[in-house]
Amino acid sequence: MKHANATNNSSTPTDKPLKITIKDTHVVYSNTKQTLLECLEQANHEIHYHCRDGYCGACRITLNEGEVDYFNGEPLAYVAKNEILPCCCKPISDIDITLL
Ligand code: FES
Repeated sequence: MKHANATNNSSTPTDKPLKITIKDTHVVYSNTKQTLLECLEQANHEIHYHCRDGYCGACRITLNEGEVDYFNGEPLAYVAKNEILPCCCKPISDIDITLL
């Protein structure tokens, strides 16, 4: 996906724990088998979702800083330039997000 801060390459997420900043809180992303959505849910952040597969766009959030990888390829749902779909991506750097 051509997106300012999102990539769609074949690189695998790093094994190093990554920091997810949400306003004044932080979540650590360390289980690379999890999607970003699963990681946020595990940390008790409520994210709206429906398909959990990149089709509906219900889970969109704002990516303020950092990079994510769409590990199954470009999602079908429309996202604005600064938005990502956490149900089908993984962070590949520390990221700063805003939940919508
Ligand atoms: S829940 Fe449908 S695109 Fe994420």
